[in-house]
Amino acid sequence: MLEALDTAVSYIRSKSSLAPQTGVILGSGLGNVVDAVETDASIPYGEIPGARASTVLGHQGRLILGRANGVPVAIMQGRVHFYEGYEMGEVMFLARVLGRLGIKRLVVTNAAGGINTSYVPGDLMLISDHINFMGVNPLRGPNVDDLGVRFPDMSEAYPESLRNMAKEVAAGLGLSLKEGVYLALSGPTYETPAEIRAFRVLGADAVGMSTVPEVIAASHMQIPVLGISCITNMAAGILKQKLTHQEVMDTTARVQQQFTALVLGILARFGAS
Ligand code: HPA
Repeated sequence: MLEALDTAVSYIRSKSSLAPQTGVILGSGLGNVVDAVETDASIPYGEIPGARASTVLGHQGRLILGRANGVPVAIMQGRVHFYEGYEMGEVMFLARVLGRLGIKRLVVTNAAGGINTSYVPGDLMLISDHINFMGVNPLRGPNVDDLGVRFPDMSEAYPESLRNMAKEVAAGLGLSLKEGVYLALSGPTYETPAEIRAFRVLGADAVGMSTVPEVIAASHMQIPVLGISCITNMAAGILKQKLTHQEVMDTTARVQQQFTALVLGILARFGAS
């Protein structure tokens, strides 16, 4: 595993000498952040040894190394998902590569369904914590001791200090932010109304099919995470309408500008540190 990661890192380093301190993963329909990035290298996932290409509409599937407001960043534009049939090692692969590239923190974003009935589609939610309902822990199997310990602590995967900083950035932009718990399922079906009622009782505010594997990979490597969900739709059974990927794409398109401003503001606050 380590050799595979470091082969990927060497390949990326052969394309760009940038040393990004911040990694970003852009979820479904949320890839426009890269338009504001002064690109040093843009590498399709298929070119990176060991990485897998995303098969999902709305997921570009390339790694961008560049500068956002002068700040060096590594941005995954799109991700691969467990429901596509990839193994968890493949789903976590590029997050681990970012870790081996030397990032000091990871910003993860996703599209999610709103479970909390005070939310409306288009809301942006800071992830305060998560519930892993994907049916498997991505670190199952032999531990890679060079990445982290066998039993990683998850009590501060999304540190409050990062969330507070994001709240300040949002306030400065006049954006309101929700804050809540993200519950991840493997998908690809959307949930049933009964599942959503159950998840609400369990304390979940939003539901999606991604992010948790990458966050667990980052936590294993002791990399703090800032998570932002774009609430693209109300979860199943809340409204009298069916759920579609089109609604997810339409909502991300509608809030793209605010979302991009928030992410760029956050990156600027990280500075070159
Ligand atoms: N459920 C699961 N994943 C999602 C949803 C949803 O309602 N919306 C966007 N991703």
